[in-house]
Amino acid sequence: MTLAARLVDIHSHVYLPRYAALLRARTTVPRILTSSRDGKPDDRLLILDRDTGRPVGPQYWDRDEKIKFMDRHGIDLTVVSSANPWLDFLPASEAQTLASQLNEDLEQYCADSPSLSPSLKRIYGFGMLPLVPEISIAALLEAIDQISKLSYLKGIIMGTRGIGKGLDDEALDPVWAALEKTGLVVFLHPHYGVNSEEWGEKNNGHVLPLALGFPFETTIATTRLILAGVFDRFPSLRLLLAHSGGALPQLSSRLASCIDHDPVVASRLEHDARWYLGKLYYDAIAYGPEELGFVSDVIARSQRYEPGSSIPTNAPVDRALGSKRMLFGTDHPFFPPLQSTEKWQSVVDNLQAIDAVSGWGQAEKDNVHGGNALSLFNLIQL
Ligand code: URA
Ligand code: ZN
Repeated sequence: MTLAARLVDIHSHVYLPRYAALLRARTTVPRILTSSRDGKPDDRLLILDRDTGRPVGPQYWDRDEKIKFMDRHGIDLTVVSSANPWLDFLPASEAQTLASQLNEDLEQYCADSPSLSPSLKRIYGFGMLPLVPEISIAALLEAIDQISKLSYLKGIIMGTRGIGKGLDDEALDPVWAALEKTGLVVFLHPHYGVNSEEWGEKNNGHVLPLALGFPFETTIATTRLILAGVFDRFPSLRLLLAHSGGALPQLSSRLASCIDHDPVVASRLEHDARWYLGKLYYDAIAYGPEELGFVSDVIARSQRYEPGSSIPTNAPVDRALGSKRMLFGTDHPFFPPLQSTEKWQSVVDNLQAIDAVSGWGQAEKDNVHGGNALSLFNLIQL
């Protein structure tokens, strides 16, 4: 098998044992509620607003379970990240200490994973920054420095709150600068969704916050980054968006038009809003070939907005081009099948979606499966 034909999962979570212990010791959300049924542990994870919980067990923290899941689905390599809500709920000093410990823990988790080849491990990781209110920028830069020196950590996972004012906070500029300089990939992941009053009174389980709230949160955070000129100031920043960028691809022309018609921002940005979408990376967790194809087109379309481009706005896009910035992911251990099955439907759906995108040939599919991840995380030459 060539390196390019590898299956690489770039969206896969873990609650490291140290973090799971913290959740277990808590009495308010986020927490793990421990109980037992018929003498067996029957723990539940409560992390979301109005959360009634979901079953939680070793698949959330045990590396052997992660490897078993990988083997079962033919996944060669995984880049794991801590699951939400990270350190968001902790006071600054505790968050700082824990971030440093968890980054070391994650390095060890990866180091102890099996090897894929003499120079490749099966697991790499995204570290964490203590992004909480009242943290000093120096502490954030220290965490970036720590992560950049840990050989199996290839990026960081980040929520949308920043240090309390969101990611368009100018105070974060030194953080973006350091992330750009170190080349760490920034994985932007939602947690809060949108105002839960929007969900009404019916009990719809986790459907509305996960299917809509999560992607809208990512959409808003990324749009605010664009509007704040973060990609103008830090053009080499590598930002990976969860859940295929949420609704941003669908709303990007509307965003561009709203910007053009607004005197407050009309001349603020260096590019048309659609240009920025071609500079981002997107996981391929959209569950359908039409959605993946559409995201791919939107990425490819960004070429039209390159400075000096003479491509007319009605020229057809080269869908294959967009596939270069899309990467397979599973969201494991979330979305397990309701009835036990050999393979998880959520994974099968995303693999089948990649396979069925019209206009993607084998080379594009191989890239989305793993080739793009190996180059984004600089694992290709190993
Ligand atoms: N639910 C979560 O809380 N996080 C995920 O990443 C996926 C589902
Ligand atoms: Zn996720």
